[in-house]
Order: sequence, then C-alpha cells, then structure tokens
Amino acid sequence: MNKIDMRVDFAGISMKNPIVVASGTYGFGREFGEFYDISQLGGISCKGLTFTPREGNPPPRVAETPMGILNSVGLQNPGVDEFIAKELPELRKHDLCVIANISGNTPEEYALMSEKLSRAGVDMIEVNVSCPNVKCGGLQYGVVPELAAEVTAAAKRSATVPVMVKLSPNVTDITAIAKAVEAAGADAVSLINTVRGMRIDVKTRRPVLKMNTGGLSGPAVLPIAVRMVWEVSNAVKIPVMGMGGVSTGEDAAQLMLAGATAVAVGTANLVDPFAALRVRDELAEIAAAQQLTAVRELTGGVLPW
Ligand code: SIN
Repeated sequence: MNKIDMRVDFAGISMKNPIVVASGTYGFGREFGEFYDISQLGGISCKGLTFTPREGNPPPRVAETPMGILNSVGLQNPGVDEFIAKELPELRKHDLCVIANISGNTPEEYALMSEKLSRAGVDMIEVNVSCPNVKCGGLQYGVVPELAAEVTAAAKRSATVPVMVKLSPNVTDITAIAKAVEAAGADAVSLINTVRGMRIDVKTRRPVLKMNTGGLSGPAVLPIAVRMVWEVSNAVKIPVMGMGGVSTGEDAAQLMLAGATAVAVGTANLVDPFAALRVRDELAEIAAAQQLTAVRELTGGVLPW
C-alpha cells in the first residue's frame, strides 16, 4: 500500500494529520496520555473553558441512548486561569495543535479569554457558541447570526492566533450562522456540536437528566453532521473542522468528502481510548485504497449524482 501524506494545513496551522479530539471528550489529555503519546494526534480541542471555574450541572447529567449519549454536563471546568497555569504547560510538552475551547457570558468575556489564551501560547481558539446546557452564553449566541458575529468579532479583536467558531446544529439554517461568523473574521468553523434531545424514564415519569434536556452525540448524529458540513463547506470559504458521531475512518472520510479539512473524534473516545488513532489509521487506509497520495485530496471530493 502506498504511504499517504497525512499532513493538513488548517487555517494556517500545520497539523501532522487531520484527526483532532473533540472538546469535552478528552479532558486536557492527561488521562489519555497514560495510554499513548498524544503527539500522534493532529490536535486536541480542550474541555470548554469559562472565565471563572464551573462545577457544571447537577447529576444525573449523562445518559446512554441508542447509538449515542445525551449529556447536560454544563461546562464543568477549572476556569481559564487554572488551565493556563496547570494544564497548558503539560500539553505544550507534546507536539500537537492545542485548541482552547471557550464559552463566555458576554462578548467581553470571550475577548478577555481570547487575549489570555493567545498570550499563554495556545495554537487556536475555538469560540463555543453552541453549548446547549447553559443558560447564559453558549447556544444563546449561536442561534442568531448577529450575536454569533458579535462574539466572533470580540474574540478576533483580542486573539493573536486563529479563531474557529463551533456551530450548533440546533438552528434552522446553519449556513446563515457560518456566513455571519466568516464575515465577522472567523478563520475557521467547527461543526456540529450536540443535537438537543431528551429521554424520559417511563417508570418514574421523570426525564433521565436532571436538567430535563441535553445534547445528543455519538454515531446517531453522523448523518446530520455530514449534511451540515456539506452545506457549510459550500457556503463559506474558510476551512471546516467536521465532527459529530465519528468512530471509524470511513466516518472521517465522509466528513472530508463533504468538505471538512480536519475531523474531530468525540464520543468515541469515551468508548475506546484509542479511537482517535484507529480513525487516523483507517482513514489512511481508505486514502491508500483510493490511490491518493495525500489525505487532503479527500476534502470536498463528494461527487454529484
Ligand atoms: C457541556 O459541558 O455541557 C457540553 C459542552 C458543549 O456542548 O459545548
């Protein structure tokens, strides 16, 4: 089998391969680092950070569903300052793209976090306007094009590294949000975040999650992700990081054919700590079987009927 060039350029950042681990499914890499050298990944999007530490929502906050999970974690995290002091120095010992995922209560908080994190040495900021599990910030900014643009512009004003905006599937037209953040200066977009859902325990007649609703992720959402990555890739010029239900190389290849330059593996990490590396290797095998020389040749390669 021919050797595939796995390198990709993502918004000006060179990554050794297109596989990133998705925010909220890999912590800050410490636990996974006990299984393998995380430098083998293209990048890590760290657990979502907020300006001050958060304990998240009360349990139960994670539940299984057919082919997926529902979560209402609520952005539990140590806060941006503790991340910079304790987690980032550890991550920087590894050779991979470090992406800081941020959620703010106001555009000013997004700006302040972007400034601190750029100065501290992350490679990219992922502006999260799509968390479905918090009252303030998050999804509130991600469903209205003007608000998504305002937050993007605030982050861009303060960041000295590329800014990627994480989009929600919980909208009528995701391309309207993608175009708005592109016009506001976003260097890339990532999609999709989780799909809002709910489960009810029939015996107790209570929702299974304390917060009633949560975000659905896992293989069940892959076709939604492929459709939305395809729509957004055709609507904007900035690069797309595709995610949502990726657990095999074939899933990753679908997202790249739909237009993604890089692909994030999320919920699969919770099932198999080696999932991201397996996806990378299976993707390379698919590219080799199709006689490609570089994995980037898959991007946007879907053919019309
Ligand atoms: C959470 O912590 O509630 C999930 C974060 C997200 O969906 O962006």
